[in-house]
Amino acid sequence: MIFEKPSTRTRISFEVAMLELGGHSLYLSSRDLQLGRGETIGDTARVLSRYVDAIMARVYSHSTLEELAKNASVPVINGLSDWEHPCQILADFLTIKEEFGDLQGVSLAFVGDGANNVANSLMLAAAMYDMDFRVASPEGYQPSEEIVKLAKEINPNFKLTITTDPFEATKGVKVIYTDVWTSMGQEEEAQRRREVFPPYQVNSKLLENASEDVIVLHCLPAHRGEEITDEVIDGPRSRVWDQAENRLHAQKALLVFLLEGK
Ligand code: CP
Ligand code: NVA
Repeated sequence: MIFEKPSTRTRISFEVAMLELGGHSLYLSSRDLQLGRGETIGDTARVLSRYVDAIMARVYSHSTLEELAKNASVPVINGLSDWEHPCQILADFLTIKEEFGDLQGVSLAFVGDGANNVANSLMLAAAMYDMDFRVASPEGYQPSEEIVKLAKEINPNFKLTITTDPFEATKGVKVIYTDVWTSMGQEEEAQRRREVFPPYQVNSKLLENASEDVIVLHCLPAHRGEEITDEVIDGPRSRVWDQAENRLHAQKALLVFLLEGK
């Protein structure tokens, strides 16, 4: 496990998942590796592939993952990049299935930075499962044309709504999802984002607009009082702690899927 950025859930859930499956994992910050002294990503991938059964990496630039995957002969798992966070979405969709029994047709509104890694992965997965996907973000923070194009390629009939109005996006919705306003690596934009995002806070008023049986998800870590209120994250509609637990179960399944037969 290579980490260029901090992590609580991804690190611990992968470590415990591997242990409980009877395997072993290594935590390596990029500083611990010769990567930090200029060894290429390609050479690192080639060498690690001779020792390990899989590589999980959390990186700044998505191209780092692509370079790892191109040169590794073992599976490379995205543990979050600036572009996607797919392991998170495995846990999220397991949580939605536990609640509603199905994914197809379920309405999900992502409220916040619609261009971030979590929003991107949610959109692609929502397209795969034919969900009713809505995004509410301020101008300038809406999903990129590139991700929308990819989602439409996956599912030409994808039901997608992109709006600046959080009340429009969450009207009658079954799942409200939010994430931090400032992702890792964007810290210098934090002040500007704090000025733009307050209308997109997930609070009790926004929940009243949703379906009666709405559930609230957040990938965590949360900035309580910014993108979500204490009342909502600690309230009866929150499934945030089940969602965090599901990282462990979903990633065990992913590891078995990737490593079975080896
Ligand atoms: N949700 C998530 O990936 O959390 P960490 O940053 O703690 O791994
Ligand atoms: N969008 C957040 C997710 C953290 C798990 C970030 O990249 O910091």
